[in-house]
Amino acid sequence: PKDKNILVGVETGDDAAVYKINDSTALVQTVDFFTPIVDDPYQFGMISAANSLSDIYAMGAKPIFALNVVGFPSNRLPISVLEEILQGALEKTAEAGIAIIGGHTVDDIEPKFGLAVTGIVHPKKVITNSHACPGDDLILTKAIGTGIIATALKQGFFTSSQAEEAIHSMTLLNRDAGEAMQEIGVHACTDVTGFGLLGHLLGMMRASNTSATIQSDCVPILKGTQDLVTAGIIPGGTKNNFDFTSQSVNYQSKISRVMKLILNDAQSSGGLLISVDHEKSESLLGLLAKKRISIAVKIGTVKQKAKWAIEII
Ligand code: CO
Ligand code: CO
Ligand code: CO
Repeated sequence: PKDKNILVGVETGDDAAVYKINDSTALVQTVDFFTPIVDDPYQFGMISAANSLSDIYAMGAKPIFALNVVGFPSNRLPISVLEEILQGALEKTAEAGIAIIGGHTVDDIEPKFGLAVTGIVHPKKVITNSHACPGDDLILTKAIGTGIIATALKQGFFTSSQAEEAIHSMTLLNRDAGEAMQEIGVHACTDVTGFGLLGHLLGMMRASNTSATIQSDCVPILKGTQDLVTAGIIPGGTKNNFDFTSQSVNYQSKISRVMKLILNDAQSSGGLLISVDHEKSESLLGLLAKKRISIAVKIGTVKQKAKWAIEII
């Protein structure tokens, strides 16, 4: 049924649903969960919680509480593993300033964990993925490559100390980046997760009816990612993303296959991809740096809708 209070629904593939309660408050609702991407249950809990909260921050909203969503093989793993997962999540939600006030657990053949998060935002301050404008700068707030690195970890090609940078990045909340963009005022935002940088950018360009040019040299990439792809560590999801975006992306001939795969790498708890007026992008980058999100960088620009939704140069 049509409901005039639905401010953001399913049409634009946005990060969360937004529902207007009254003239000053809209609810922002999201749920996200996945199977472990690292071996350490505590770290997995932190990463999954940060990832679930991210959809709230990507809408320019403030989380108010969360619920656990759990699948757990109680006959195969000790309950202490689940306790550690939940402890990691509690730590992250406490950092975000919210409580976990319930949830649901089912018996499952493999562990799954995530959060349903509820947030609030002023109805006029919702930041969607559908208002990018020609002339905007595109800012990315975290490096990419976590999917490739997590796969390398699972397959034993990478030690956990080699993966430290990636794990730290995945546990980092997008709260400060979200607050910075809300303070400056931006046109559009989404977070970079399972569909990879190009998949989420494509979603934003389609929803905004615009095209983008990405400067491949400027995209921040986690240390070691290139070598892993060269050695053949390519997650299935990353290959699927690459196939999916290929009809809409034009790669300049100098772009290597390794780089193409990295740009499509499925991320967990990735950064915010922000479309901001060119006039404001320096102040946004300045504020992000002040908030110690020093990796945030301009990676491209938005233009009028063209033949290719995305050009990689
Ligand atoms: Co999202
Ligand atoms: Co999500
Ligand atoms: Co119930």
